Amino acid sequence: MAFETLNVDIQDHVCTIKLNRPEALNALNSVLVRELCEALEEADASDKVRCIILTGSEKAFAAGADIKEMSELTYVEVFASNLFASANDRIAAIRKPIIAAVAGYALGGGCELAMLCDFIIAADNAKFGQPEINLGVTAGIGGTQRLTRFVGKSKSMDMNLTGRFMTAEEAERSGLVSRVVPAKKLMEEATGAAQKIAEKSLLTAMAVKEAVNRSYELPLNEGLLFERRVFHSMFATEDQKEGMAAFLEKREAQFRDK
Ligand code: CAA
Repeated sequence: MAFETLNVDIQDHVCTIKLNRPEALNALNSVLVRELCEALEEADASDKVRCIILTGSEKAFAAGADIKEMSELTYVEVFASNLFASANDRIAAIRKPIIAAVAGYALGGGCELAMLCDFIIAADNAKFGQPEINLGVTAGIGGTQRLTRFVGKSKSMDMNLTGRFMTAEEAERSGLVSRVVPAKKLMEEATGAAQKIAEKSLLTAMAVKEAVNRSYELPLNEGLLFERRVFHSMFATEDQKEGMAAFLEKREAQFRDK
């Protein structure tokens, strides 16, 4: 499918979705949000795709929700349309792993979009922030909720109340991102990670994603029970037999997603 605000490329089972609204630093307007949900759902359904990378430009992953588009909206309009609820739910429902490869600004809805992915690899020029307070609003797609779970209350309050930006180094130290690499190496690093994931059993990768995400929703005992049940269920798959046999036979596993 061709998109107005995205470039989509599939190679070696990795689908790379690049946000492409350079004139607005990839601000998330309604066209981009709709197209992004469609592209992610298409990748999730495609047999050709085993892992997804979401990225932006060297200057901006995304500078937030589109302020021009939002500025004149009324409470009744945003409440009635449930602004951003459907995008949050549709992106959170993607079952294949999604890596956010972030360079430049990831602000407001941009930081929230990166946090909706499964993990974040940052370029050393990345800047994260929840500056919505400067616009007279709070964050609206997880900036007060997911960010707090990533970095803890004190830093989340700091980010959301002052609107200051966090460097990639601070974001890694705080647990928001998993790795920081030189900006020029960002896509190489993200693609390498995606290809590693694409070599695994997709069934297992989806089960891992589901189990880790449950840890955000459940108390420890319930989470451990969920994990144990998922772990037990993997023994019903051919990929478990193949993975363990391959280890014992000292060869590469040939997973078939069965
Ligand atoms: N919405 C719409 N347009 C945006 C935008 C946004 N969030 N961010 C940047 N742009 C546009 C600018 O208006 C500008 O367009 P024009 O050339 O037509 O004027 C263009 O992108 C380039 O931006 P700047 O000239 O401002 O670039 P800069 O390098 O000087 O500054 C920046 C970069 C610090 C990221 C600055 O653009 C900025 O502060 N952007 C807004 C960040 C922000 O507040 N994000 C939160 C949005 S609200 C939100 O996301 C709510 C939510 O939780 C859902």
